Amino acid sequence: MNVVAVDRDGRVHELIVSSGDVLMEVLRDNGLGVEAVCGGCRACATCHVLLDQPSLVAGRGEDEEALLSVSEHFDSSRSRLSCQIELAAEHAGMRVVVAPED
Ligand code: FES
Repeated sequence: MNVVAVDRDGRVHELIVSSGDVLMEVLRDNGLGVEAVCGGCRACATCHVLLDQPSLVAGRGEDEEALLSVSEHFDSSRSRLSCQIELAAEHAGMRVVVAPED
């Protein structure tokens, strides 16, 4: 399956993914500028993305909400930490935008 990711320069990338992949790792490994400084333990927010279809993904946890809500680019309906999103079949075709750096 694929997901569509838009990088910080507005370039659109169609990425081939598998169920069980972590979105942050997919974005980082495909060179989309996701640093993921903390390695995925909800401590850095350098994996911040904006989802076009947020209803496809479970809501933010408390830690995630606290970390993202201080970002200049926080969008209460669309912001997520990509390290907290494990891809599954229902995410096929999902579009994500890498959030600007704070
Ligand atoms: S990689 Fe650090 S919070 Fe997601």
